[in-house]
Amino acid sequence: MDIRTAGIDDLDAVSDIASIVDPPHDGGDFDRAYYRHLMQHGRVVVAEASEIVVGYAAVIDVDGSQHLSDLFLHQDVRGHDVGRQLLDAVWKDGTAPRQTFASLHPAALPLYVRSGMTPRWPLLYLHGASERLPASSLVVEPCDASVAAGHEAEWLGWDRRIEYGYWSRRPEAQIFGVREGTTTIAVGCAVNSRGVHSLARLAYGDASDACDVVAAAARWCGEDVMVAVPGENPTVPTLIESGWRYIEHDLYCAGEPDLIDPQRLLPHPGFM
Ligand SMILES: CC(C)(COP(=O)(O)OP(=O)(O)OC[C@H]1O[C@@H](n2cnc3c(N)ncnc32)[C@H](O)[C@@H]1OP(=O)(O)O)[C@@H](O)C(=O)NCCC(=O)NCCS
Repeated sequence: MDIRTAGIDDLDAVSDIASIVDPPHDGGDFDRAYYRHLMQHGRVVVAEASEIVVGYAAVIDVDGSQHLSDLFLHQDVRGHDVGRQLLDAVWKDGTAPRQTFASLHPAALPLYVRSGMTPRWPLLYLHGASERLPASSLVVEPCDASVAAGHEAEWLGWDRRIEYGYWSRRPEAQIFGVREGTTTIAVGCAVNSRGVHSLARLAYGDASDACDVVAAAARWCGEDVMVAVPGENPTVPTLIESGWRYIEHDLYCAGEPDLIDPQRLLPHPGFM
């Protein structure tokens, strides 16, 4: 098995293996631009057997930390130490803290713990009817990506302009802002892929706005909406009490406790 750094010429091979081992679980379109973004702005390594890509791992920089976006192997090569080799190869350096959303595959968590990350909280995938959420008087409207990135920089202290480039260019996605009067209090990304509506990401400055902001943003996304919510986010009781269904969860693992604020972010699992 060869482990090597991938380049943009590997986009087809990585997209092919990803479409087999990590197809869209919600029935939406396969998002090839996601893999192009990883190759252009992150670090991707591949595992090759007889010159065929059988697995890959990808890391992007998030505010000085290394976020493991993906680690996927073809079924036939699992359980033979290839996951560990890919993981060892993909980290850029030994000092920047590491984080990821671990799947519940039994081999994933042990790898991440040995790689210096501690399991911290679940990322809950929930689905439900936006009309069942409490009423909100907040106004939601399309927002320029650079304006949204500017709000996040002010509220959360990080620069996500590069990822906003990806989110804003997805043909089925729309960046939005949530206003209270004339003041923007949240920004996010709504996706409608083959009629599957997702609140793909949401960030806001004040945790006490969370429930109101999610209710307004979900209505704007569509009637039935998917969302990924940190278990300790203030919206979780509201969503469950409003009849939203739990689908599955990942586990947020990180080398340091406060790399992100789960009270003020509904993260995009791949790019945070
Ligand atoms: C998760 C995945 C990347 C791991 O790669 P892998 O090559 O199969 O795993 P490895 O063989 O390198 O190592 C897994 C380790 O976990 C250990 N392990 C497996 N099941 C375990 C369990 N239930 N409890 C404790 N350790 C376990 C293995 O024994 C091994 O450790 P060892 O080398 O000391 O024996 C791969 O199985 C995969 O692609 N799974 C499906 C996709 C997925 O869920 N990816 C993770 C996304 S976050």
